[in-house]
Amino acid sequence: MWLLRQPHSLYGKMIDLNKIPTHVAVIMDGNGRWAAKNRVNRISGHNAGMESMKNIVRKASDLGIKYLTVYAFSTENWKRTEEEVSGIFKLLVKFVKLDLDELCEKNVKVMVMGDYSVIPDNAKKSLEKTMEKTKDNTGLQFNIALNYGSRAEILRGINNIIADEKKRKINLPIDEKLFSKYLYTGDECGNVPDPDLIIRTSGEQRLSNFLLWQCAYSEFAFTDTLWPDFTREEFEQIIEKYQNRERRFGGRN
Ligand code: FPP
Repeated sequence: MWLLRQPHSLYGKMIDLNKIPTHVAVIMDGNGRWAAKNRVNRISGHNAGMESMKNIVRKASDLGIKYLTVYAFSTENWKRTEEEVSGIFKLLVKFVKLDLDELCEKNVKVMVMGDYSVIPDNAKKSLEKTMEKTKDNTGLQFNIALNYGSRAEILRGINNIIADEKKRKINLPIDEKLFSKYLYTGDECGNVPDPDLIIRTSGEQRLSNFLLWQCAYSEFAFTDTLWPDFTREEFEQIIEKYQNRERRFGGRN
């Protein structure tokens, strides 16, 4: 078998293009601490975080990763101040407005994961426009988890299963494959495969209600880097380390 190798890896090491993870998910944490460290307001921290996010989307697309999911706004993030919440959604609108052309050029398909019916109207409209405009793109699928919480996702799936069973659309008992279809990652987002790799920045080592069902066999990478300082080079380093891990999925080699 030919080992295709990336000749111009940013930090000088080799990435095996035969072993690129199919789905990478990222908990983009540390914008607030970055802002405090740099003596700027929290929105400036999120703005810097958005630049990191754009760089990682570009890199993921260049590496041929098929799915990238970012945790942009959790069901718990509504507890933040009105100012911070509206600032995050303004950034989101800015992102989709300014970067729609580049996303299309790179053949990126954008999807929203979570109950976004309740987000500010202009953000909802911008996202819907972006999803519509990119829906036929066949490159990287970029999933933005918005008003997403995994427990709510699982409960919603169970309630929809009960409703469908009452309508005789499905038969009990259900199996893992059918249950997966009822999650946000299921039919609604084109049946995204479970993440191969979950990255969390900023030194925290927890999942914070992110992809709890889907992470059963994911590899985890934790870094102390605050999200706005996270570079494409560090992303490549993490992918390279992932490629050297042995994944057994509960079996034996
Ligand atoms: C976590 O950092 C980050 C968030 C809750 C928001 C993530 C938002 C972005 C990366 C930019 C905007 C992009 C989109 C797509 C909306 P934190 O604020 O919890 O940091 P802290 O733990 O240091 O306070």
